[in-house]
Amino acid sequence: MDKIVVEGGKKLKGEVRVSGAKNATLPIMAAALLTDEPSRIENVPDVQDVATMLKILSFLGAKVDYSDHVLEIKPGRKLNAFAPYHLVSTMRASFCVLGPTLARCGRGEVSLPGGCVIGARPIDLHLKGLETLGASITIDHGYVRAQSKNGLRGGVVYLGGKFGSSVLATANVLMAATLARGRTYIECAACEPEVVDLADFLVKMGAKIKGQGSHLIEIEGVRKLRGVQHTVIPDRIEAGTFMVAGAIVKGSDVVVRGCDLDHSRALVDKLTQAGVVVQRMESGARIRRNGTLRPEDITTHPYPGFPTDLQAQMMALLTVTPGISVITEKIYPDRFMHVSELNRMGSRIFLEGSSAIVHGARRLSGAPVMASDLRASAALILAGLAAEGTTEIQRIYHLDRGYERIEEKLSLLGANIKRVKA
Ligand code: UD1
Repeated sequence: MDKIVVEGGKKLKGEVRVSGAKNATLPIMAAALLTDEPSRIENVPDVQDVATMLKILSFLGAKVDYSDHVLEIKPGRKLNAFAPYHLVSTMRASFCVLGPTLARCGRGEVSLPGGCVIGARPIDLHLKGLETLGASITIDHGYVRAQSKNGLRGGVVYLGGKFGSSVLATANVLMAATLARGRTYIECAACEPEVVDLADFLVKMGAKIKGQGSHLIEIEGVRKLRGVQHTVIPDRIEAGTFMVAGAIVKGSDVVVRGCDLDHSRALVDKLTQAGVVVQRMESGARIRRNGTLRPEDITTHPYPGFPTDLQAQMMALLTVTPGISVITEKIYPDRFMHVSELNRMGSRIFLEGSSAIVHGARRLSGAPVMASDLRASAALILAGLAAEGTTEIQRIYHLDRGYERIEEKLSLLGANIKRVKA
């Protein structure tokens, strides 16, 4: 297995360009199945999750062609409405092909996505939403089978769960509702920018949608959608990771090019409060850190709150921030696998329920560590950038799921980082 090796302590300087958002791309790829006409999607990140979704679309019968960040999808007249375990189990987002296959074929059979290392990830909200639109759903032998013999019809769907709104359940129901008869209201809808990007794609396809970006989305079903061209929004989580990179080593000065700061307000607020200078630019942001940082109290929430997908990276920053910081996780209360690995590098983090108490220190020391999930991998790299000596991060296949050539991008900023092939 490949590993990443970082020699810490180097100031980062220069420019880095953000890729397209993985979490916007995946549901948009599924949405392209809602028509038999071809679609062209640009700014598609070259990451493993996209490769997995390409396999799923091919399995479903679509023709796909991906090169140089441009993806052509030709779903054709006949779709196979079956997504098997060996593909779905590797990536939870693949479950959002259920809504489009159900809407187009009147049925869909998709493997249960299974457990996840960041904690329990149920699908009850997806199923409740599709049932409200008239689907009959059974779960057998690890597969969700959904059918709508008389076609889907609009309804009022409340998608608030124990931990707030659900991003992919909103995407699934939104996609299915575009071809349902009548009007659908999604209440307590997720308002993440990725949901808005999906809605924008669907509107180009001919869907009638209002309220995307708010907690109430209204969809008037149409009979047919068409193929379109679309450019995916920048990845706010990748951008946020580079912003933290620009803050973690004193004396750094980094321009994160191509990001949309309007999607990163919670992070910008926290970085600024900590003493990092974040300067808005025409196309991106300049991050500078000179003095000592101040500790923080951070709680993750659905958008526009602080994103759970930047919690681990922010924790890496707080480990080198003198004083006591508290991070509370409200989306995935168990998403703290990076804590023990950061502690191996000399940080002092204690878990108290769904909160992490970070006793910040002035230095970390490089160590061999193990990545447990996608964002935890990024946090370990960030910690490695700040640590004295060498950090070796194992199991970086998690990283490759969602970051495009992160080691090359950080090298361009002057980091001493390399991938060591197995
Ligand atoms: C998406 C993102 C993921 C991010 C997460 C939260 C993609 C591909 N992935 O995942 O990177 O960490 O949003 O911002 O976009 N829940 C239920 N029942 C459900 C569905 C979810 O209880 O049917 C719970 C989850 O366990 C979690 C919370 O709701 O506690 C939010 O999860 P959700 O927004 O659904 O996450 P995903 O859409 O899977």
